[in-house]
Amino acid sequence: MTVDDAARPWWRDAVVYQIYIRSFADGDGDGIGDIAGVRSRLPYLRDLGVDAVWINPWFPSPMADGGYDVADYRDIDPLFGTLADADALIAEAHGLGLRVLLDIVPNHTSDRHPWFVDALAAGRGSPERLRYLFREGRGRGGSEPPTDWESVFGGPAWTRVLEPDGLPGQWYLHLFAPEQPDLDWSHPEVRAEFEAILRFWYERGADGFRIDVAHGLVKDPAFPDLGPRLRAPRAGDPRPHPHWDQDGVHDIYRRWRAVADAYGERPFVAEVFVSHPERLARFVRPGELHTAFDFRFLKAGWEPNRLREAIDDGLRALEPVGAPATWVLSNHDQVRHVTRLGRAAATAPEAVLPLGPAGTTLPVTGPSDLALGRRRARAAVLLMLALPGSAYLYQGEELGLEEVLDLPDELLQDPAWMRSGHTIRGRDGCRIPLPWTDGASPFGFGPPGSEPWLPQPAGWGALSVAAQTGDPGSMLELYRSALRLRREHPGFRSDGMTWLDAPDGVLRFQRGDGLEVVVNVTADDVRLDPGGHRVLLASVPLDSEGDVLPGDAAVWLG
Ligand code: NOJ
Repeated sequence: MTVDDAARPWWRDAVVYQIYIRSFADGDGDGIGDIAGVRSRLPYLRDLGVDAVWINPWFPSPMADGGYDVADYRDIDPLFGTLADADALIAEAHGLGLRVLLDIVPNHTSDRHPWFVDALAAGRGSPERLRYLFREGRGRGGSEPPTDWESVFGGPAWTRVLEPDGLPGQWYLHLFAPEQPDLDWSHPEVRAEFEAILRFWYERGADGFRIDVAHGLVKDPAFPDLGPRLRAPRAGDPRPHPHWDQDGVHDIYRRWRAVADAYGERPFVAEVFVSHPERLARFVRPGELHTAFDFRFLKAGWEPNRLREAIDDGLRALEPVGAPATWVLSNHDQVRHVTRLGRAAATAPEAVLPLGPAGTTLPVTGPSDLALGRRRARAAVLLMLALPGSAYLYQGEELGLEEVLDLPDELLQDPAWMRSGHTIRGRDGCRIPLPWTDGASPFGFGPPGSEPWLPQPAGWGALSVAAQTGDPGSMLELYRSALRLRREHPGFRSDGMTWLDAPDGVLRFQRGDGLEVVVNVTADDVRLDPGGHRVLLASVPLDSEGDVLPGDAAVWLG
C-alpha cells in the first residue's frame, strides 16, 4: 500500500526532534531546562530543518523518574513554566512552521496523583482502589507479592501499603518505580480520563503525542507468574506475556484514534517493545495509531546484515497495514549512539545493545573509540534519513555528543541506579545539558554563572552549536545539509526503496526520482560506481573522482 503525494499527510515523512526539556535550554538560570529556554531556541530548530518537536513530559511531577511520574496531566511543572508559557511555545512553534508533539504517560501515574492519594486513604475494597492494581499478597499474612513480576528498574513490581489503620495491607503493581503505580485500564474512568486529557491538549494546539510504554497498559487479569521466563518480550517468542503487548491494548488505541481524528492530522507515535515486527505492525493498523518506533534499527549497531534485516523486516511488516516506518538512533533512554557505535561490540555478529522492556538501557560497557563512533554516526544518520518513513533525532546528536560515563555516583538521578542496588548506572549520561556556546560551562545552556543540574564535560564547548556553526566538516552542518536536501528532493517523499547490488558489507538502495544511497558498513574503501549520478551529500570528503567510498561512510547520489 502506498500513499500518493497529494494526499500525503505531513507525519509520514516527518523528521521530529526530541526535546528532553530538563536538559535543552535553561531560561531562568535555576540549572534546569524549561519552556522559556525552548522558546528561545525555536529558531535554531527551524533552521536545523526539522518538521516537529517531541517534548518529554513537562507536567507537574515529583520527578521520581524524570517526569514520567505525572501528578497532574493538565498543567505544567513549575520547574518548566506555566500553562501560559506552554500555550506561547505552541503558538510560536506553529508560527515557525514547527509542530509540537507531547508525551502522554498512560501506563502509570505518580504516587502523588490525587487518584493514588485517594486510593491509599480509602482503603481495601473502595472504589478509589479500583483505578489501580491493588491485590492481596500471598503467603503468611499476605506478606509476599501477589506475583513474581519484576520492575523494569529492578526489584519486585509490587509494593505493600500501610492501610489507613496503620497495618501492612494490600500490594499495588508498578512495572517501573514504586512512585509510578500502574493504572487499571479495564476501569472505564481511567479510559475516559485519558481521552479527556488528549482533548485538553489538542484544544491547546498539541499536534500529536508520543505514547509512553504503549505496549504495557493491559495486564492479564489472571495475574499469572512469569516463572523462569524473561521479563522482556523475546524476539520470536509466540507466547503471550502477562503484562507486555496484551491484545487488549488495541481497543484503547482505536478509541484514541477516533479522538485524534476529530482534530485532523494529529499523529501518535507509540513507544512499543514487542517480540517481532508483525506485533509492532498491529499497533499501526488502519484505525489505530499512526506510527510506532522500530527499535530494531537502533539495536542493529554497525553490522551490515543486522541493519539490512532490521530495515527489511520493519518495512515488510508495515507494508500490509500501510503505516510508515519510524526510525531512531538515540533517545533519552539509550546510550548515545556516538558512544555505542565506537565500541567493538557495535560490529559483533550478535545483537549487542540490550534493552529493558520499556527501553531502558542495561549496562553496556567497554571502551569506545569516539572518533570512530562519530565517523559512523555521520554515516548512520545519512542512512536513517534516507529510509522511507519518519525519523526522530534526539537533542544533541546533531552535535555529535557522546555519552557521559564518568558522572559522580552521588549525582546520579535515574531510579535504575537506586533500584538496582547501584549496579545499573542508568540513563543520566545521555541527559547532560546541551552546549550552545563555546567557553566554559554552562556553555550557554543557562545564563553565565548558573550551574546545570548535571555537570557538562569541560570539552563540550568545542561541540557547541556556536563552535560547529559554519564549519562545513562539523556534525551540525552535516545534519543541516541532510535535512535541507531531504526537504528539497522529491525522492524522499515516497514509501518504497529498492536494494541494489553492492559489495559485501555495503548497503546500496534507490528511492524515488533517481535518489540513490550507498552506505559502507565496513572499515575498508570500496569502489563506488556513481552510475551517472552526482554526489548530493557525503558523510566524509570524497576524492575528486568520486569513485571511492571510504570505510564507515555514506553518500547520497542524485
Ligand atoms: C519509557 C520512558 O522513555 C522512560 O524514560 C521511562 O522511564 C519509562 N517509560 C517509564 O515511564
